[in-house]
Amino acid sequence: MSELILVTGGAGFIGSHTCVALVAAGYTPVILDNLGNSDVRVLRRLATITGKTIEFIEGDVRDRALLDRLFREHAIAAVMHFAGLKAVGDSVADPLHYYDNNVNGTLVLAAAMRAAGVKTLIFSSSATVYGEPESSPIPESAPCRPESPYGHSKRMVEQMLADLHVAQPDWRIALLRYFNPVGAHQSGLIGEHPQGKPNNLMPYVCQVAVGLRDRLAVHGGDYPTPDGTGVRDYVHVMDLAEGHVAALSHAALAPGLVTVNLGTGQGASVLDVVKAFELASGQPIAYDIGPRRAGDVPAYWGDPSLAHSTLRWKARRGLQQMCEDSWRWQKSNPKGYGN
Ligand code: NAD
Ligand code: UFG
Repeated sequence: MSELILVTGGAGFIGSHTCVALVAAGYTPVILDNLGNSDVRVLRRLATITGKTIEFIEGDVRDRALLDRLFREHAIAAVMHFAGLKAVGDSVADPLHYYDNNVNGTLVLAAAMRAAGVKTLIFSSSATVYGEPESSPIPESAPCRPESPYGHSKRMVEQMLADLHVAQPDWRIALLRYFNPVGAHQSGLIGEHPQGKPNNLMPYVCQVAVGLRDRLAVHGGDYPTPDGTGVRDYVHVMDLAEGHVAALSHAALAPGLVTVNLGTGQGASVLDVVKAFELASGQPIAYDIGPRRAGDVPAYWGDPSLAHSTLRWKARRGLQQMCEDSWRWQKSNPKGYGN
């Protein structure tokens, strides 16, 4: 009998791709999502890719009564918790909204899990918990100095779950710190479609390539990096999705708490991404080098060696494939799930 995995935020970018990886690995995902930043039409695409109808419950992780009912009615074996808000700028403008969604949301979820006796939790954390690192690659032992309410909310949840694990060592918890997730499923049927003007590099480049935006503004060309532009550790969303399945298999081995970076260990500059995308799409990407963006770190990338040794996971897809898959999704769905 296939294990039921509750995927909060499963209609979103990373959660939807993880549902594909879960089905491929023989699990049965059940999605809980309030559709605050996603489109219900993703479900039909997931059915096309997986050949399975994935159960969807529309609702909020902060709704304790809903969670109690959900756990009563489903024999959930483990929870993957993606539901959260992720825009750094919005978190500065409305911190209480971020702490409520991200911290209180996880508190309500963990309490409902405890009441239901579900003790396996995979949590979406972020490399943003490191703040500006002393050096790269960043190991998990590096100090955490988040710089935004969003980053603090992720770190607070990590601390809360670590404290829970001390009190209840029979829990199995993985805190996964993602670097920069990009790309799309290779079918081109699911991908990332930010509402409004994209904040992040890859969706912006995609929209320039498809003609929705005129030019990319490169935020800074005078950083102390090889070409002067910012360097990040971009990781393919299907690699991340497979990392979650690896974390679930690891959790099945024994109770414990692990904190693991999910990245490639390779840095790429803004101009590296532009060049790889031009090659993937055959489209020129017009850009202007502008001023630095407030709050940006010049360069960082992760040390993924702990993920290799503990989870037996390694990112397999390179920058070129990230761009090819992003482009396939973008060109066939210029307006997202509404096409
Ligand atoms: P996303 O916005 O596409 O997905 C999040 C999903 O959660 C959305 O479908 C949204 O509707 C849902 N949601 C939000 N709050 C909810 C709530 N209270 N109750 C129920 N559903 C709710 O974002 P994503 O890129 O897929 O990110 C998933 C997780 O990974 C988030 O927790 C995010 O902070 C974390 N993360 C993302 C990145 C990134 O760059 N994409 C990097 C590091 C960490
Ligand atoms: N960039 C541009 N032009 C743009 C957008 C971005 O030049 O229009 C540059 C940025 O300056 C940076 C790089 O592209 O050098 C990547 O920027 P993103 O906005 O794509 O990603 P960030 O590294 O700034 O942040 C992302 C998520 C955060 C998360 C962080 C670490 O947006 O939520 O990764 O995981 F915290």
